Amino acid sequence: MADRIDGKRLANGLIQGLTKEVEQFKASHNVVPGLAVVLVGHDPASQVYVSSKVKRAKEAGLNSIEHYLSEDCSQSELDGVIEQLNSNPNVHGILVQLPLPSHLCEKKVIESIAPEKDVDGFHPQNVGRLGTGEASLTPCTPLGCMLMLRQHFGDCLSGLSGKHAVVIGRSNIVGKPMAQLLLQANCTVTVVHSRTQNIESLCQQADILIAAVGQPEMVKSSWVKTGAVVIDVGINAISRDGKRKLVGDVEFDSVSGVASALSPVPGGVGPMTIACLMQNTLTAAKNQIN
Ligand code: GUN
Repeated sequence: MADRIDGKRLANGLIQGLTKEVEQFKASHNVVPGLAVVLVGHDPASQVYVSSKVKRAKEAGLNSIEHYLSEDCSQSELDGVIEQLNSNPNVHGILVQLPLPSHLCEKKVIESIAPEKDVDGFHPQNVGRLGTGEASLTPCTPLGCMLMLRQHFGDCLSGLSGKHAVVIGRSNIVGKPMAQLLLQANCTVTVVHSRTQNIESLCQQADILIAAVGQPEMVKSSWVKTGAVVIDVGINAISRDGKRKLVGDVEFDSVSGVASALSPVPGGVGPMTIACLMQNTLTAAKNQIN
């Protein structure tokens, strides 16, 4: 039976440590790190994610600034909110929850956030820095996955060195930055996606398998090498036996019988993403003070 990589417990520990650091930062600089979260519209999943982010930010002692805009908000209205947040010295981090309604341009929004306040790490300047290994603001979900792997393999990253990591999915939010972080940790990295031929046989070669596709239980036990470490990034709401349920991209029960370690859904990557957002906000505030 695979070890359970408990993201919830790890995230609680991280936030506990961060809360102390936030207190020290306040005491020494007389500044409360501020996180602004912008939600446009009423996407139910986005509403849940945003309320968790706001709740955790407050618990960690951050100043939480929230902007809720209507579904039909115009591009210029959204641009105006970001401009205001960019120039507000009490705001150190800005997060615009994605996806946006289809009439709004995500690229324009991402590029308009001041790079030093871009706690998502999505601005092209931060994406470029990630590629050269100089990032200080790294996308939260891949950063959370790396912390889970680091904990599993031991704090020394040489535990990851030389391992074959296969990332399923090539999104800007998870797949691509995940591949960069694994490369920096000296893994051999393969990225597979919807047009890849023989996905299953490539996944079978993975020592580390990261599933980030948004397809409920796509990864079966036959895809997983005995002893592999599996991180499940998917959070998919499904109906089963007449009940709503959250499942990952990995078929948990069967893969548990093959993998050496596996992260659960819920209670795996989700809480780590939020903890890393808090960490990025403190990092952004530190960078802006200096
Ligand atoms: N939507 C899904 N994941 C994310 C994320 O990490 N950041 C933002 N801004 N939106 C998301």
